[in-house]
Amino acid sequence: MQIITTKAELEQNVQACKMKGQTIGLVPTMGALHEGHASLVRRCASENDVTVVSVFVNPTQFNNKEDLAKYPRSLERDAALLESIGAHFVFAPTPEEMYTAEEMNEPFRFDFNGLDSMMEGAMRPGHFNGVVQVVSRLFYLVKPDRAYFGEKDYQQLAIIRFMVGCSSLAGTFGDLQIIGCPIVREASGLALSSRNERLSAEEKQTALAISKTLFASQKWAKEPNATVKEVEQRVVDTINAVDGLEVEYYQIVDQTTLLPTDTFRHAIGCVTVYCGPVRLIDNIKY
Ligand code: PAF
Repeated sequence: MQIITTKAELEQNVQACKMKGQTIGLVPTMGALHEGHASLVRRCASENDVTVVSVFVNPTQFNNKEDLAKYPRSLERDAALLESIGAHFVFAPTPEEMYTAEEMNEPFRFDFNGLDSMMEGAMRPGHFNGVVQVVSRLFYLVKPDRAYFGEKDYQQLAIIRFMVGCSSLAGTFGDLQIIGCPIVREASGLALSSRNERLSAEEKQTALAISKTLFASQKWAKEPNATVKEVEQRVVDTINAVDGLEVEYYQIVDQTTLLPTDTFRHAIGCVTVYCGPVRLIDNIKY
């Protein structure tokens, strides 16, 4: 496995693989890798000849400087894990290598046709613009056949699919396939997240109420005459009743359009909860 820090070296290496007719898979990450990321990398390695993993804490997707500063960084540990599960290249650039000062301060504005106006997009203005800024750049550099993203960040996945399928970009990324992979959970049900590292043992215990409530809501949705609005409210009330948890939003939306829906068919419920100071997200399909 090779660790690469410059765009030029990355392009040269993937070009050499392409000349040999090898297929390329990309797993974009911000490091602090856990079993959720590992599941993406393993799947990528099983479906492509060459696996490229980017490890880059992308400053342009953070609208809170403190959150950016506190984001866990562990390149050495990440690299050891990636080597053991079959990655071929790790791309770990500096922010200055990825962006000019102008791009960093005044990013290009993408139009997501409203997909970024609710849930995470409403709470974190500019977040998805920053995500797509870095992801589209990685797609240009690597020109992968497939790119892998976790379904935990469901709105991110929907927005990246939209960006790749967008008519104004049609053909830009060739036949790139965006592959969404299921959430990986601890045996307790807690969705794996790099942010879990910031939870105390007690907070981790408290956070279990989030997934427990989401699983219970699948049953509530099947009760006679259950409505989306009632289930939404019941999820919020149940989580908020737990000391130490505070729901920022819970919305049941259509899995493709992310628009509010009044049916459980093809619906997904997305939640963000503060567990103490740590912001956790999770979701459940109905
Ligand atoms: O999901 C993440 O970790 C990030 O948003 C991504 C896709 C790597 C872009 O920085």
